[in-house]
Amino acid sequence: MNAKTTFFGTAKQTVKKYRHSKNKIIKFSLLFLSFIWNATQTIKRICVDKDFRSLALLQLLHPNKVHQTTPLTFMDRYPAIFSACKNYFNGKQDLKILSYGCSTGEEVLTLRKYFPDAELIGADINKQSLAICRQLPVDKNISFLYSSHSEIKKHGPFDAIFCMAVLQRKPHDIAAKGITNLKKIYPFDKFEQQIIEFDQIIKPQGLMVIHYTQYSFEDTSLASNYKSLGYYNQSDYHSPVFDKKGELIKNPPPQKSIFIKL
Ligand SMILES: C[S@@+](CC[C@H](N)C(=O)[O-])C[C@H]1O[C@@H](n2cnc3c(N)ncnc32)[C@H](O)[C@@H]1O
Repeated sequence: MNAKTTFFGTAKQTVKKYRHSKNKIIKFSLLFLSFIWNATQTIKRICVDKDFRSLALLQLLHPNKVHQTTPLTFMDRYPAIFSACKNYFNGKQDLKILSYGCSTGEEVLTLRKYFPDAELIGADINKQSLAICRQLPVDKNISFLYSSHSEIKKHGPFDAIFCMAVLQRKPHDIAAKGITNLKKIYPFDKFEQQIIEFDQIIKPQGLMVIHYTQYSFEDTSLASNYKSLGYYNQSDYHSPVFDKKGELIKNPPPQKSIFIKL
């Protein structure tokens, strides 16, 4: 054990010991010290960790626009859903498809396998992820955009919008902390507003595909303008889901994932 580890170990134990002290000066000093410690650690991570910096900046600069912050993704993540959409279009030509929240591009590369001739647009709000997308060896019918409604609209209308694992906020943290109301963290209005924006750029008979969400599409004001495609649902989403008021729903039925615009 080196001197640095020993010092921090002892400091931690001392803080633990005196945290509940009745002496207000000791209590306040410890609170202040732990605030300074946490702030220093955050600043240090912002300086040295590119991914952490990118996420921190997203939340700081675009608190109203950003949905899920983490960029986790991988190839062919939702094979049943992708296949169902491919079958729905049944070889139709000239499809235009949006991958909203494409992260580092694996979803767009996957969609290319299901839709070999489609025009594919990937949009994300994380500039670091987009920089990775732009290094990918893709064909001329694939492009990547910084996500803003006006920019995306210029490329629409779309035959299908895939919005997978985007309309949520830190679901694992929410579960771990036992949070029972999501309103302050990720309000229903924000989810619904995003659905309204998608609706403006989806063609009639086009598909809105939303998967891994903390709210239900069927609770939005647009639900009656759509019908679900089959029984494809979010039964593999094991995180908590919430009602329009942000209240936790106990034992919710799995939410549907694929909707056809009427
Ligand atoms: C968990 S990843 C999902 C990646 C991929 N869709 C998948 O399912 O594998 C969530 C992504 O949504 C992006 N995102 C969050 N808010 C967004 C917004 N307003 N516009 C576009 N992308 C956004 C994040 O930057 C992140 O890359």
